[in-house]
Amino acid sequence: MTKIAPSMLSCDFSRLGEELVRVEKSGADWAHLDVMDGMFVPNLTFGAPIIKCARHWTDIPFDAHLMIEDPVRYVEDFAKAGCDSITVHTEAEGDIMAAVDKIHDLGLKAGITMNPPTDVHDLDRYLDRVDLVLIMTVNAGFGGQKFHEECIPKIEYVKKWAEDHNPGLEISVDGGINRETGKRCVEAGANVLVAGSALFKLDDMSQEISLWKGYGPD
Ligand code: DX5
Ligand code: ZN
Repeated sequence: MTKIAPSMLSCDFSRLGEELVRVEKSGADWAHLDVMDGMFVPNLTFGAPIIKCARHWTDIPFDAHLMIEDPVRYVEDFAKAGCDSITVHTEAEGDIMAAVDKIHDLGLKAGITMNPPTDVHDLDRYLDRVDLVLIMTVNAGFGGQKFHEECIPKIEYVKKWAEDHNPGLEISVDGGINRETGKRCVEAGANVLVAGSALFKLDDMSQEISLWKGYGPD
């Protein structure tokens, strides 16, 4: 079954705890938490203190997506705040492999991600070192953008690598995911769909989540 990770970027932040409960009750598998520093991307969201406050509202796994420079500086804070997985960008400043290793040392799942213009082969050195690959299907920074078609072959490339080397690798997609683009990504090999606007615009996201979960193999 495909896993669904609603992006809390589209939630009502004044009610973050309740929104997390809503996501869990709607059948989501993970809550996706978009951390932006105003440097790596031209937008700011929230950091570890907010995640720590939100943690006690739900048991759903917290999937942090760090859109920040030099992420190794902060991974311990995010681990202590209660994140279950932390994903970092290949393009960010600093030693990204050291960040991946530190995430593992802290006992969490480590993910690597890249923006649409970045060459898929920039992932190669990380593939056998991570638990999750997040293929960005928009340029990181904002919700509600249009899906980039040209990212589909990147999903296929990572899926082929996973079949040959690590069938348990989580292959996630993020950006412009809706009923149609999500299906295409699953057909290309993704097994985790991150979506913000397409889910949070619905009064009840549970039906949409169960539809998307039915994409792909059982
Ligand atoms: C964008 C974030 C996404 C974003 C997706 O930088 O990484 O997680 O919330 O939003 P939608 O699904 O609206 O494109
Ligand atoms: Zn994200």
